[in-house]
Order: sequence, then C-alpha cells, then structure tokens
Amino acid sequence: MAEWDSGQDGRVGVLFVCLGNICRSPLAEGVFRARARKLGVLDRLDIDSCGTGGWHVGASPDPRSVAVAALRSIPLDHRARQLDPPRDFVRFQHIIAMDRSNVREIEAAGETHGLARRPIRLLRALKGAREGAEHADVPDPYYGGQDGFERVFAMVDVACAELLEELADEIRR
Ligand code: 4NP
Repeated sequence: MAEWDSGQDGRVGVLFVCLGNICRSPLAEGVFRARARKLGVLDRLDIDSCGTGGWHVGASPDPRSVAVAALRSIPLDHRARQLDPPRDFVRFQHIIAMDRSNVREIEAAGETHGLARRPIRLLRALKGAREGAEHADVPDPYYGGQDGFERVFAMVDVACAELLEELADEIRR
C-alpha cells in the first residue's frame, strides 16, 4: 500500500495548489468546500490549498478572488501557505494543480526532498491527458482584471463538481 492511500482520520485528503496561494487555489478550495457541504460530505474530506511559492505566506486571498466567491455566497477564509512536501505528500491523497508549471514545481519539490514520485493532477485534466494540453491550465489571473477571475471561477466550479463526482465512492467508503 502506498503511503498516501489513506488519509487523516479516514478522511479523503484533497490539496489544491497554485503559485502564490492567493488567487486560484484558495478559490478552488472554497468552491470545493461549498459543494461538499451542499452534498453533506464535508466531514469526510480534509481540504486545503497551498502555493509552490512562499511570497504571500500568511496573506488572505486576493480581494478579486474573494469578490467572485462572495457573489455566490462562498466565504474564503484561507491564509496562504507554501507547499510542504514531506507533510503534504502523506496527508493528501489527491494533489490537484492549477497549471502545468505548478505540476512541474510540485514534482521537483518532491524530488528535492527525496520523496517517491506520486501522481499530481491538473484540475482541468482530471481524467489524464495533461501533456501539451494548454487548455487544461487554469490561467494565472494575478496580473489581469476582474474578468480573468470570473473566468477562473467558471473553470474551477465545473472542475470541482467533476472532482466530487469522481471521489464519490472513495468519500462514502
Ligand atoms: P495564484 O496567483 O498562483 O493563483 O495565487 C498568483 C499570485 C501571486 C503571484 C503570482 C500568481 N505573484 O507573483 O506574486
């Protein structure tokens, strides 16, 4: 059995990862949490987010992410933290990256710590085929306007619904 086959307290661990952990991944975390709550399965999940970079550690989510979530009555109360491979690779069975550069950074961080290679998936390519799949990235909205955050919300919302569907059996086990 691989070390990431079972989560904390029997819960299913899901970690969303982006670069800064202030725009995309805290939004994905909040959306996924809200959908899980609605389905009545929140207590079966251990959900968190982090960034591969450490520039914003301790910061609240970007106000533009907070705004698109608030429009749907979804609170974002995360504080940014950096990926911690030795802990996160054990705690979370599902490590879900926002774009392909995040995937590369997570894999490289794991190797730096001498950790066994493990599956890192893209949020928008949950069923595989991430190689060369530019459309599978959730694009970094940080340097753009509010409209970019609306597009990110739409992508994240659809993908989080798919992820919950995919995990249904695992969650109910
Ligand atoms: P995120 O967006 O990875 O979606 O949180 C970014 C936030 C900050 C920076 C880059 C991307 N930054 O360079 O500070």
